[in-house]
Amino acid sequence: MSEMNLPLVLVTHTLPEGWLSSLDGHCRMIVGPVDAIRFAPELLENLPEAVGIFTLLSIPVNETILSQAPNLRVVSNMAVGFDNIDLAACTRRGIPVGNTPGVLTEGTADLTFALLLAAARRLLEASQDAREGRWTTWSPAGWLGADLRGASLGIIGMGKIGKAVARRATAFGMDIFFTDAIPCLEIENDLGATCLPLDDLLARCDFISLHTPLSTQTRGMIDEKALRRMKPTAILINTARGPIIDMQALARALREGWIRAAALDVTDPEPLPRDHPLFSLPNCLITPHIGSATWNTRRRMAELACQNLLAGLQGRHLVHCVNPEVYQK
Ligand code: DGY
Repeated sequence: MSEMNLPLVLVTHTLPEGWLSSLDGHCRMIVGPVDAIRFAPELLENLPEAVGIFTLLSIPVNETILSQAPNLRVVSNMAVGFDNIDLAACTRRGIPVGNTPGVLTEGTADLTFALLLAAARRLLEASQDAREGRWTTWSPAGWLGADLRGASLGIIGMGKIGKAVARRATAFGMDIFFTDAIPCLEIENDLGATCLPLDDLLARCDFISLHTPLSTQTRGMIDEKALRRMKPTAILINTARGPIIDMQALARALREGWIRAAALDVTDPEPLPRDHPLFSLPNCLITPHIGSATWNTRRRMAELACQNLLAGLQGRHLVHCVNPEVYQK
């Protein structure tokens, strides 16, 4: 087949060399800039001809985009989360949407634990103090933090990543509690974790870690009321999606001592503006959505997203499809 007859795929961002090589020979690609925050003009111009879209979690694929792409047969998101995509609009058009579950589970659980430990032991403050001359002696009561052994960890959302976090917590001697849309006896038995209603978990746990997808049910779930239910010593970790937490309420909670600390890999919005109040708080550690940022994990996410895209171009079922109902039509 000549190059011009191959289906057109719009790739919203430039990815590292070789990450899309499995697509070579199967499609023509128009690729957006490395730091894209929306569809680049050249991609927008070519939407009418596009058969596939390869995108990242930071780019909305909404009605405006879809209505300009009448030939679209697949949207492949290089992420496990897919809240950037108007799923209902894709489903209405019979367009399968692919995501990349599994391959980022351990990497994200590792980062969750890195944040949990960093917040427990006040690494942000301690490191800044060391660099800025406030480390004057070994101080018996300086930079005291929280123990993990014997502490309770509340996991909100016991999917793959939540379970991987629970396994790490077990190794640290923590008591594990969880809440999930479907309480599951098997999880309790396998992980020695106890299922609790959300309000009880918030009130009881020393550490609370979020692992739910962003949905209409979870948006704003950690609001003022939820934060006020937590212990004044509680530490909140979010490696899921920023809008699950009400950021204004969190800033007040941290400033006024309703809870002790937070560590966030995800914020609302992303990136968080530099003058956001959370950046001025020593008890709030913020990283730039790097849960899956290891070479192996990101490479495997790209490979899986390519597999989904190719399947869609070729009319096969996607390896991981988040709206499988499109196949029942
Ligand atoms: C995802 O894949 O949804 C993660 O947030 C990426 O780190």
